[in-house]
Amino acid sequence: MSTTSSLPFAATLDVLATLVPEKLLKPRFGIVCGSGLSTLASSLRDVVEVPYSSLKGFGTSTVAGHKSSLAFGLIGEGEGVPVVAMLGRFHPYEGHGMSTVVYPIRVLARLGVKNLIITNASGSLNPNFPAGTIVVIQDHLAIPNLSGPLNALLGPQTSPDHPRFLPLSDAYSVTLRQHAFRAVHALGLPEDTLQEGVYAWVSGPTYETPAEGRFLRASGADVVGMSTVPEVVAAREEGMEVIVLSLVTNAVVIPEYRSIKEEIRQEILTGKPAMLKPVATVSHEEVLSVAATKTEIMKAIVAKIVQTASK
Ligand code: 6GU
Repeated sequence: MSTTSSLPFAATLDVLATLVPEKLLKPRFGIVCGSGLSTLASSLRDVVEVPYSSLKGFGTSTVAGHKSSLAFGLIGEGEGVPVVAMLGRFHPYEGHGMSTVVYPIRVLARLGVKNLIITNASGSLNPNFPAGTIVVIQDHLAIPNLSGPLNALLGPQTSPDHPRFLPLSDAYSVTLRQHAFRAVHALGLPEDTLQEGVYAWVSGPTYETPAEGRFLRASGADVVGMSTVPEVVAAREEGMEVIVLSLVTNAVVIPEYRSIKEEIRQEILTGKPAMLKPVATVSHEEVLSVAATKTEIMKAIVAKIVQTASK
């Protein structure tokens, strides 16, 4: 087995060089748009979109609310800052291998992207973070045996220059996180717009059982989702600075356990039929509709971070 993988970077970069004008081809920032957040790209000027289907090595994202293209454009007044946005991402639950999930991140690195802003939708495990809260991720939980054997860096190395054992104690950029909280203040948004917390990564596509929600909460996670961690890991390996803005779209439902045994004992004792109380559940439609209500704020924060961090 070879120690480095052979990925089609040259072919992908050739296509981009022919389709994307010079002034957009050296993006300073990469932006990954999560579920229902592809409209983040509407804050770009002079946009050139390249569909994933024309790029060797890219998969197709199959999830509702996700597009499937790279959008190159400018953010901000004057000359503007060149950025590239991923409209749609790949998840292991779609059947994509880990190297496909993180391939676009590695392409961004080869275009010269040094700063990566990743967005996602997540479920909240923290009662202080209701739906609509945006959480600046400060750390993550992705214990390999909890997420299946799904580390982004399993297998041959992409480059012999990368470390085989990547440290992740500094995965989330302090500088970019500072810019995020300054941005909320500069935009005159309420302080509780933006919180900070720990993201637990699960493979999905099932949402958590109550026991899993309780387990993750007890393990120190504030929010949970099915994306982002592979991209963070690959971006760190490629030497990028990373910030993750996680939009809470729903609370993870962790009901108190009811004892059916006890309820039926009471039913037998009293002759009164036990109740059937429905449990609240989450749906992808709910996730998308909450995401839609927050895209304007998310867009403003992302644009502000790009403008202040590129000075
Ligand atoms: Cl509740 N769980 C997971 N795993 N991902 C989510 C979510 C919940 N809500 C949005 N994305």
